[in-house]
Amino acid sequence: YRFYFICVSAVLIHKVCLQVTVEGVISGSVLLPCSSAEHDCKPQDIDVFWRHNGSKIVFDIIKGKNSVEQQEPRYKNRTETFPEEYKGGNFNIRLTALNHADAGKYTCLIAHSSEHKTVELIINCV
Ligand SMILES: *[C@@H]1O[C@H](CO)[C@@H](O)[C@H](O)[C@H]1NC(C)=O
Ligand SMILES: *[C@@H]1O[C@H](CO)[C@@H](O)[C@H](O)[C@H]1NC(C)=O
Repeated sequence: YRFYFICVSAVLIHKVCLQVTVEGVISGSVLLPCSSAEHDCKPQDIDVFWRHNGSKIVFDIIKGKNSVEQQEPRYKNRTETFPEEYKGGNFNIRLTALNHADAGKYTCLIAHSSEHKTVELIINCV
């Protein structure tokens, strides 16, 4: 019973801690952070999926390689990645030429370690 309680608390705290908010301005750029607790993964084991508002494909890293084949057209040429950091467990992406529709929730699913990070992007008017 006690064990169950601890687990539920851990899940709730975990969720709150993982929510990150970043702010951007129209036509500016923003770094969407996502890092894993697990390092030293072999490139062929690295699978990471960035999604916007639950479903739109922003960016995929499949077997350690950038994959833009399935990418939603609205993010084409607007995602900057840092492949040299994948080995260290960092899967940050930079989104450029921001517009209003870029606001919302971004999720970074780190499939190989079953981690799930959420970034809320707020677009400010200037
Ligand atoms: C993306 O960039 C490439 C190379 O610079 C260019 O050929 C292509 O037209 C661009 N696509 C879009 C949607 O801007
Ligand atoms: C994502 O959701 C946000 C907040 O609901 C909305 O402002 C934005 O237009 C959505 N963008 C896309 C591409 O779905």
